[in-house]
Amino acid sequence: MEEKRISMRGKNVLGLADFSAEEIRLVLDTAREMKNIIHRDIKKVPTLRGKSIVTLFYEPSTRTRTSFELAGKYLGADVVNITAGSSSIVKGESLRDTLYTIEAMGVDAIVMRHKAEGAAEYASRVVSPVILNAGDGAHAHPSQALLNLFTIEEHKGRLEGLKVAILGDVLHSRVARSDIQGMRKMGLEVHIAGPKTLLPRYLYQEPGVIVHERIEDAIKDADVIEVLRIQLERMKGGLFPTTREYARIFGLNDARLAMAKDDVLVLHPGPMNKGWEISPFVAYGDNSAIQEEVQNGVAIRMALYTLVLTGGKQA
Ligand code: NCD
Repeated sequence: MEEKRISMRGKNVLGLADFSAEEIRLVLDTAREMKNIIHRDIKKVPTLRGKSIVTLFYEPSTRTRTSFELAGKYLGADVVNITAGSSSIVKGESLRDTLYTIEAMGVDAIVMRHKAEGAAEYASRVVSPVILNAGDGAHAHPSQALLNLFTIEEHKGRLEGLKVAILGDVLHSRVARSDIQGMRKMGLEVHIAGPKTLLPRYLYQEPGVIVHERIEDAIKDADVIEVLRIQLERMKGGLFPTTREYARIFGLNDARLAMAKDDVLVLHPGPMNKGWEISPFVAYGDNSAIQEEVQNGVAIRMALYTLVLTGGKQA
């Protein structure tokens, strides 16, 4: 039978809920090719020559914004960055008018981070450039979930059947939400643990997700542990004990790491609160792939641009 080639050309990357397993596979395979470019002496290919990309960030970011920018530049696109604090957003310009302004300049793609859930989807309805969601409130962060899958597959050689433990502040984590969708689609077994106040209700209805009372039960025999950042800036109070108590009951330290498989892979989307949700020894230890995640983030974003802006053909 002839292989049916899927195309993602023109697809908005809003969340993994509207990605099929085949599309996720295509992104991961494309990212593998892209990673070679990052290791070259001259990191520049013409795949996106003549394309322009704007990153529009209403929330702070170090790695996501920089990697979306570098990914575009390595592929030959022109990339312009807009951050809320240094644009007409401080003069009160609305999201819709900001999007219209960017569209009017002939931009091909907008990478967007916003505190409101659904902001990227809204953008995809009001303007024509392709929208890539770089995080909308606690809703979705698809490129982060894809780079997690990529990093896991690179280390384990497979995805299907692996046991993943996701720990901590799931309530405020768009990363966890996208992870769960992507991991389920790719056949991983997802275990969750954290303070009850920080576990959203949707988890208990989510098929294929196992919620544990004790962090040790989620970690036991895990192939992968992802630690989430405690997102104090999104907490309205009352949800959280003290950081010392959190570290004692829920923090990933050496003793807890030993309960997982010997070759367990430790992930964290960053930025880390070291000493709270993760000990420095674990963060920088042999099992940690936290720095690799950052590099893989560039490869994943190169793959996404290539697929949505060119359909995958190399220029
Ligand atoms: C995450 C985010 O912004 O959602 N960080 C990231 O993109 N690398 C997670 C977080 O802020 O804790």
